[in-house]
Amino acid sequence: MTTENNSIKVGELDFPPRKVWMKTYGCQMNYHDSERIMSHLINLNFTQTENQQEADLVLFNTCAVRDLANQKFYSHMGETNHLRKEVIVAAGGCIAQTEGKELVAKYKTLDFAFGTDVIDNIGEMVYRAYAGERKFTVTSWDRSDNYSIETKITQGTPQAFVNIIKGCDKFCSYCIVPFTRGREKSRRHAEVVTDVKRLVEYSGIQEVMLLGQNVNSFGKDNNESLADLIMDLDQINGLELLRYTTSHPYDVTDELVSAHASAKKLANHLHLPVQSGSNTVLQRMLREYTIEHYLELLAKMRKANPHMVITTDIIAGFPNETEEEHQATMQLLELAQYDNIFSYAYSPRKGTKSARMNDVLTDDIRGRRLREIMKRQLEIQENLRKGMIGKIYRILVSEKKPDKKGALKWTGRTSCMRLVHFAPETLDSDYQWHWVDVEILSATALSTQGKIIKDHGKRPTL
Ligand code: SAH
Ligand code: SF4
Ligand code: F3S
Repeated sequence: MTTENNSIKVGELDFPPRKVWMKTYGCQMNYHDSERIMSHLINLNFTQTENQQEADLVLFNTCAVRDLANQKFYSHMGETNHLRKEVIVAAGGCIAQTEGKELVAKYKTLDFAFGTDVIDNIGEMVYRAYAGERKFTVTSWDRSDNYSIETKITQGTPQAFVNIIKGCDKFCSYCIVPFTRGREKSRRHAEVVTDVKRLVEYSGIQEVMLLGQNVNSFGKDNNESLADLIMDLDQINGLELLRYTTSHPYDVTDELVSAHASAKKLANHLHLPVQSGSNTVLQRMLREYTIEHYLELLAKMRKANPHMVITTDIIAGFPNETEEEHQATMQLLELAQYDNIFSYAYSPRKGTKSARMNDVLTDDIRGRRLREIMKRQLEIQENLRKGMIGKIYRILVSEKKPDKKGALKWTGRTSCMRLVHFAPETLDSDYQWHWVDVEILSATALSTQGKIIKDHGKRPTL
């Protein structure tokens, strides 16, 4: 109900128009959760602001995957001392899930903390805060058998994230995620298909990213599978591009490989985290596959779709990693020919198995190995991307920005996930969310420059 001063009455309280400032750390899952949180706050009359100083509500959606992520949040939390007294400060996400109570006790400005499985109750929590309650923590797990949601979008873009499975049951020895996100639970196949159809038909969505920490475990408990889901989503008229992330190599089935051959809308890209090129390290990580099995998967994927581009995650300096084990990872870079990698120095996480190992490695060794991995990978990917020159790629244009020399460039990603920049034909040409064909003129390790060949407008034509 809206009243005269534009307030909304909810229960006993009036909610006048207010501003929320939100900071998200971590993975796409967290970014997607933030969007969901925003969609609930809109119902309480909040609009988003980029300026923390004008915010009435300050929200942090935290990540605990490496110590650096925690430290960033702690330092931003420290800065909230300068906010106006009446500003409400809340922290959600992965740190809040396991340390919510401690955070609320430690930071005097923090009014409440909430976990990863209660984000759909954010409205209630904000209500409690405006009713005067302070210093509470909500970190319960949803106990229902089903994971059933409707995707909420707030951005007005043709791209949408769609959660299809939450949690992780893998318990890799280094990883905090199973503790911060709980057990695996999938949505039902039919629900996801209806959801995506609705997004395509009524919200103008053209590109969908299926999300899960372990997305290819989807449907295991219900006798359903990611491969079947992809094949059904592929039939939806108006959906142009389908992606999924993140996959665990153990759960890549032959059916999923086949889907990459037959689903027309499935992107030419797969992010398949490997973590290490050494079988003995993979064993200590409890990753459940060998490097031989992993390389065979890459070969099968590339056979199913010859345009397939592969990216990965690598951890440098796992506890007691020997020089020989590290060199096995260097060797893997040559064999796998990744287009991009996300590599990190190992960071011990409280409560995980590997944090209890006696580790002889120093940060210096870890840093050196990380730099060695990154340096060689940049050479490999520069070389791979040089192969794009002269070819034509279709991109969905997502933004414009001046380049280093101040010239206006438009930017989009290929189906294979590579960033392409191009100059507009005329200064006032508007390509926002257009499908555009570009010919690649030059390429570096991280980006490519192209020339526009054809502007399809807001829907791709043949
Ligand atoms: N579910 C995904 C990724 C989850 S976390 C998967 O299984 O691949 C994202 C990445 O962070 C991981 O792939 C891993 O490379 C990295 N990571 C996770 N825990 C880490 C730790 N303790 N130290 C360093 N990197 C870590
Ligand atoms: Fe972490 Fe392993 Fe689960 Fe990925 S699969 S989220 S690395 S425990
Ligand atoms: Fe971080 Fe949680 Fe994602 S720990 S990587 S935000 S699942």
